[in-house]
Amino acid sequence: MQQRGQWSGRLGFILAAAGSAIGLGNLWKFPYVTHQNEGGAFVLIYIGAVLLVGLPIMTAEILVGRRTRRDPVGAFKQLGEGRLGGKAWAGLGFLGVSAGFIILSYYSVVAGWTVHYIVLSLQGKLTALASDPGALQTHFVDGFLADGKQQVGYHVFFMAATVSAVYFGVKEGIERVAKILMPLLFAILIFLVIYSATTPGFAPAMKFLFRPNFSELEPSAILEAVGQAFFSLSLGMGAMLTYGSYMRRESSVPRSAVEICFLDSMMGILACVIMFSIIFTFDLEVSQSATILFTTLPTVLVQLPAGGLVLGLFFVLVGFAALTSTVSLLEVVSSYAIDELRWSRQRATLTMGVAIGIFGVLSALSLGANSALSQLNLFGKGSTEGVFSSLDYLAANWLLPVGGLMIALFVGWILNPQEVKTELEDGHKPMQASFGFLHFALRFAAPIAVGAILFSVIFLGAEYQ
Ligand code: TRP
Repeated sequence: MQQRGQWSGRLGFILAAAGSAIGLGNLWKFPYVTHQNEGGAFVLIYIGAVLLVGLPIMTAEILVGRRTRRDPVGAFKQLGEGRLGGKAWAGLGFLGVSAGFIILSYYSVVAGWTVHYIVLSLQGKLTALASDPGALQTHFVDGFLADGKQQVGYHVFFMAATVSAVYFGVKEGIERVAKILMPLLFAILIFLVIYSATTPGFAPAMKFLFRPNFSELEPSAILEAVGQAFFSLSLGMGAMLTYGSYMRRESSVPRSAVEICFLDSMMGILACVIMFSIIFTFDLEVSQSATILFTTLPTVLVQLPAGGLVLGLFFVLVGFAALTSTVSLLEVVSSYAIDELRWSRQRATLTMGVAIGIFGVLSALSLGANSALSQLNLFGKGSTEGVFSSLDYLAANWLLPVGGLMIALFVGWILNPQEVKTELEDGHKPMQASFGFLHFALRFAAPIAVGAILFSVIFLGAEYQ
């Protein structure tokens, strides 16, 4: 067997893990749910959810990974042995690997859209299209989404890019990509934030985001904040566990978890600053549609000074953010084949990449209104028509929360507290008051919050992503 990979150091791990966390969830979903939930108060609740649920589960996942140095299936099998539940805990790992497979198959389709926009921008066509709102809408919905060939083409392209990064391994592939893309991503984002500060919508945007008004907040916002924290932080399926398994023993787990949570939340909030500045500048209606990023936003960005350039940069930003996320999803699935099935990394990455790519074709072809796959309703209820949305529904509303709940219970109740503490102290001494908080959060806060989400999905029919 090949030697197991390792990050070159803590920075490599932080950038790769932050790369996993920062993605479409921050740049598109977070501004959109923040808007729906009336801004400031929701941002505060979200930060609370990150601290009370996200941070503990993030720590738990990284800890299990670094402790066992295995993929999610192997990790839970190994730690479960001789304890309540025994080797059945491997099932939790398997749930995670399956979730990774499923999420990547449709996430890559959306990521492919950004490549299409980058191509349009490079061809000089995007500015003209975006200058005519009707034209862009028609191009995107009728021309692009319904064009199976293009959908599959861009999806396959994005999968190929993902496979290329994972193929070369932890240090030479994933870490190298993250070390190039993440600084670029931060740079583009900061440029866009400064740029948005020059727009008239900036002041109202800041007020909207940072002046909480609790009177308008719905109770459901709390659950939504927890669900969003999960997806955005890449929790609940062993992505952070897998990245943690390549971490050096001397790197601090709690400190890393804090930094990843901080970077991810910052990114979401800065994305809000950019989006809301534009929204308030043009007094836009924010529709519920998943396509605002690809239809409305370009048409307004292009009206601003240097709009064409900014627009191109914006899609580069989204594409990069998506790539470092797809890489983490494929790594979970590949690491399972490498550690458990004893495949070589090359074989694992190629086989799994191709399998996920083929499976994703179903999602790619389900987007046109006339496609038979767009009518398929796999899980009943709600807005889950079509393969694409059904898979998203299954993963985001079920697999991740269930996975996260089980991980919290596993580390909070099944593992011996002293053992958890000792493991955390490796690379981070001493661990006192913060351990009490962490353990409490894993035992009670996180399970109760996630249990409430599942309860509401089951009994109230609510939807979270
Ligand atoms: N966190 C990423 C985003 O916000 C998506 C993602 C990548 C993810 N890996 C994950 C979500 C693992 C859940 C689990 O776009």
